[in-house]
Amino acid sequence: MTDTVREKDEHSGVETTGHEWDGIRELDNPLPRWWLWVFYACIAFSIGYWVLMPSWPGVSGYTRGLLGQSDRAAVGKALSDLATVRGAGAAKLKTASLAQIESDPELQAYALQVGASIFGDNCATCHGAGGGGSKGYANLRDDVWLWGGTLEDIQQTLTYGIRSGDDQARMSQMPAFGRDGLLQPAQVADMTEYVVALSGRKAAAAAVTRATPVFAEQCVSCHGPAGKGMQSVGAPDLTDSDWLFGSDRASISSQIHNGRGGVMPAWGNRFSPETIKALAVYVHANSGQ
Ligand code: HEC
Ligand code: HEC
Repeated sequence: MTDTVREKDEHSGVETTGHEWDGIRELDNPLPRWWLWVFYACIAFSIGYWVLMPSWPGVSGYTRGLLGQSDRAAVGKALSDLATVRGAGAAKLKTASLAQIESDPELQAYALQVGASIFGDNCATCHGAGGGGSKGYANLRDDVWLWGGTLEDIQQTLTYGIRSGDDQARMSQMPAFGRDGLLQPAQVADMTEYVVALSGRKAAAAAVTRATPVFAEQCVSCHGPAGKGMQSVGAPDLTDSDWLFGSDRASISSQIHNGRGGVMPAWGNRFSPETIKALAVYVHANSGQ
C-alpha cells in the first residue's frame, strides 16, 4: 500500500478511499439507504428488547425486563394446568364404569387420549402402531376377537394377560398334535386340508373325508363342531378369513403340528385400574365398535 491520497475515480466519478493494492483502488461508495434503515431499525429493536425482555447477564442473575417474561415459569404453569385437567379426568375415570365412560363424550375423549398414548408406548411394539397386529399378534383393529370384544372382556384380558403366568390369566393350550405324536404326519396333512375346506377354500376331498372323524374327536372341544371357535378358550374361528398364524397350508399345518399359543403379559400390576379402563375404551373404540 503506497498511495493514501483520496482522489476522484475517472470512470465512475466516485471518490476513492485512498487505499490502493497493486494498482487496484477502492471506491468510497455510500452504504445503500435501505440497508442503513434496516441497520438503524435493528438497533432500535434491540434497545426495546433489552428494556422489555430478560437480556443482559449480570454477576448474580440477569436483567429481567419490564414484561417479566420467563420460559421456565411458562412451562411450570402449563404443567400445572395439565395436572389440573388430567387430575379431574383421572378422578372421574376412577369412579365411572366402563359403560359410563363410553356414554360420556367428554370423559370418553379423555380416556381415548390417555389410551392412545399408553398404547403407543406399551402395546404398539407387539400389536403394531395402529393395533393392526401381525403373525401371532392379534389384530385389535377388527371386530374378530379371540377372547371376547366387550369392554369387560377387554378389561379382563388386559388386567391378567394371556398365558402370562398370572393366576387369573386367559389360559388354554392347543395340543402339539404332530410334535407330541397325537396325530401321524399323514393325519396332520389331512387335517390341514380339512381346515382349508372349513374356511371355504378348495381342498383335497379324500383328505377332508379322512379328517372329519378326527376333527370331531380332537378339535371340537375348543374350536366347536362347526369350527367356529370358542372365546372362553381363546380358540379362533377357523371358518373365517381372519388368521392369527397365517392362512396358507404351511402355516396351518405348522399350527396343528406345534399347537402354539400366544403370550401377552398381564398389565394389571403395571398400570392403575383407571389406566386399564382407558386402554379398554381405546381398544374397544379402535376396533370400530
Ligand atoms: C409382548 C407382546 C405384547 C404386548 C406388549 C401386548 N400384547 Fe396384546 N397380545 C399379544 C398376543 C401375542 C396376543 C394374542 C394372544 C393369543 O394368541 O391368544 C395379544 C392379545 C391381545 C388382546 C386380545 C385380543 C382378542 O382378540 O381377544 C388384547 C385386547 C390386547 N392384546 C391388548 C393389548 C394392549 C392394550 C396392550 C398394551 C397395554 C398389549 N396388548 C400389549 C401380545 C402383546
Ligand atoms: C385345547 C383347545 C384346542 C384344541 C383341542 C385344538 N385347538 Fe386349535 N387352537 C386353540 C387355540 C387356543 C388357538 C389359538 C392360539 C393362540 O391364540 O395363540 C388355536 C389355533 C388354531 C389354529 C390357528 C388359527 C389361526 O387363526 O391362525 C388352527 C389352524 C387350529 N387351531 C387347528 C386345530 C385343529 C385342526 C385341531 C384338532 C386337531 C385343534 N386346533 C385343536 C385351541 C385348541
